[in-house]
Amino acid sequence: MFTDGAMDRKGGIATGPGMGTGRRRFLLTAWPWIKGAAAMVLTIPLMSFLRFKVPSRPRLVAVDKSLKLGGFIMEPEFVIFDTDDGPRAVSRTCTHLGCRLNYHELAGELVCPCHQSRFTKDGQRLAGPAVRNLPMYPVTRMNDLENKGFMVAIS
Ligand code: FES
Repeated sequence: MFTDGAMDRKGGIATGPGMGTGRRRFLLTAWPWIKGAAAMVLTIPLMSFLRFKVPSRPRLVAVDKSLKLGGFIMEPEFVIFDTDDGPRAVSRTCTHLGCRLNYHELAGELVCPCHQSRFTKDGQRLAGPAVRNLPMYPVTRMNDLENKGFMVAIS
């Protein structure tokens, strides 16, 4: 209780002889920082609730190999297939639990060794516990004098 003081009408901060000026000055100084911190703490869950994502820059992976007509290149993170529309890179990470997919050439499918999900060369899910298709990555063919092969942009 402030028996010999008064309440400030703006911020409700006690003033008067019972309230030290140091504490009052501290509260007046800290209040904007407290509001800013509260706004930051509330913004992160709000943005995740709204599914806002900051787009990440793609990671470029150079593949210094040649691709035969109708063939494929197996890399640790993706497979590049030669198609009628040009080279196409498909992720090798299973969308179920993340196991590394193998390419079965005879069946023309990407198969997961963990739980046998199967995908087409276009990344479309065919069967298994995985419910999402595989991501596709943009591929650039490098044909200059110093570079040959492909550049794959993994996002
Ligand atoms: S991790 Fe690929 S099917 Fe389960």
